[in-house]
Amino acid sequence: MENVLITGGAGFIGSNFVHYVLAKYPDCKVVVFDKLTYAGNLDNLQDVADDPRYHFVRADICDTELVQQVIQEHEIQSIVNFAADTHVDRSILEPGSFIQTDVYGTHVLLEAIREFGLRRMVHVSTDEVYGSVVEGSSVETDNLLPSSPYSASKAGGDLMCRAYHVTYGVPVVITRGSNNFGPHQYPEKVIPLFITNALDDKPLPLYGDGQNVRDWLYVLDHCEAIDLMWREGWDGEIYNVGSDDELTNLELTEMLLELMGKPRSLIQFVEDRPGHDRRYSLDSTKIHQLGWQPRHDFEEALVGTVRWYTENRWWWEKIKRGEYEGYYQTQYGRRPVVSGSGN
Ligand code: NAD
Ligand code: TYD
Repeated sequence: MENVLITGGAGFIGSNFVHYVLAKYPDCKVVVFDKLTYAGNLDNLQDVADDPRYHFVRADICDTELVQQVIQEHEIQSIVNFAADTHVDRSILEPGSFIQTDVYGTHVLLEAIREFGLRRMVHVSTDEVYGSVVEGSSVETDNLLPSSPYSASKAGGDLMCRAYHVTYGVPVVITRGSNNFGPHQYPEKVIPLFITNALDDKPLPLYGDGQNVRDWLYVLDHCEAIDLMWREGWDGEIYNVGSDDELTNLELTEMLLELMGKPRSLIQFVEDRPGHDRRYSLDSTKIHQLGWQPRHDFEEALVGTVRWYTENRWWWEKIKRGEYEGYYQTQYGRRPVVSGSGN
């Protein structure tokens, strides 16, 4: 196998992917390149920290010089890009860093692929770029109509990948996944927020009427799809990655409370998110044709996720206490948020 740069590898999906790759490919060298924003967390990678195939670099994908230096130093052959600002509610409050990382940062990686002739980049995009889909399901050729600064920034990065492929022949595959859930998800996203609140008997703030619909994809199913795209995707192509497990937020919340043996009275209807997309829905026929199907049953995966948060309070309690804001010690010493030194 090869040397892969996993950008955003200290976050939720990225760290799950790092574990997946190290377990599946004994000959792979994995270099995690992550700025460690509030959402990046070395606790997610502590059990691979001593693996000689794993290297960590704290740095920003917007830093062209460092991106290029790390690619050369580690003889990188491909990139899987998870790095992004990802939370819709934060993007509504402060859009600037979303535009910077999700659009400009993607461009820096594309330039590096061009410069060094790398084999491929998989760019992890999202179903949110299609905007709200009241009826039917989005196909890859549909127009993009993003609604939030997050989804608009992701659409910008996604389109930049396509433009770099068409204009310069850069080998990039784009995946548009639906809402992920599973272990190590930062407890600001609805599933880990509601599980951890319920564990502490705190209210679950359900936006609006609770009738917004999301398609829930277990993170390991997403990792398998990204792996397939990394190995066998077609450059320049876009692949939807959905699970066909659509639920209203109210249905999801009731299911969680039932699984956890907690009362329905914990549900607290609160003011809606501005610009809240009513529904996302993906038609994933194209990736099914390449042999990918989600393998995890939704309810079983949700039970496993509840169990993980129940058994790993050490992981989320300090996040909820805010201990992680700007506080990171790496094997290379204490680092500022934007590192200049690399591995
Ligand atoms: P996350 O917020 O948990 O992790 C993002 C990671 O990127 C963090 O480790 C953070 O430190 C890092 N990062 C942020 N800005 C950076 C920068 N400028 N340079 C280097 N690293 C930076 O996010 P996630 O949920 O794991 O999502 C990963 C990717 O998958 C994102 O691109 C997201 O848009 C996409 N995606 C997420 C979902 C979902 O439901 N979570 C669904 C589809 C697609
Ligand atoms: P979220 O996990 O933020 O993902 P996204 O907005 O990217 O889909 O939210 C999932 C759904 O849950 C979305 O419809 C908003 C809703 N939601 C709540 O009702 N309450 C909350 O506290 C949060 C964070 C989300």
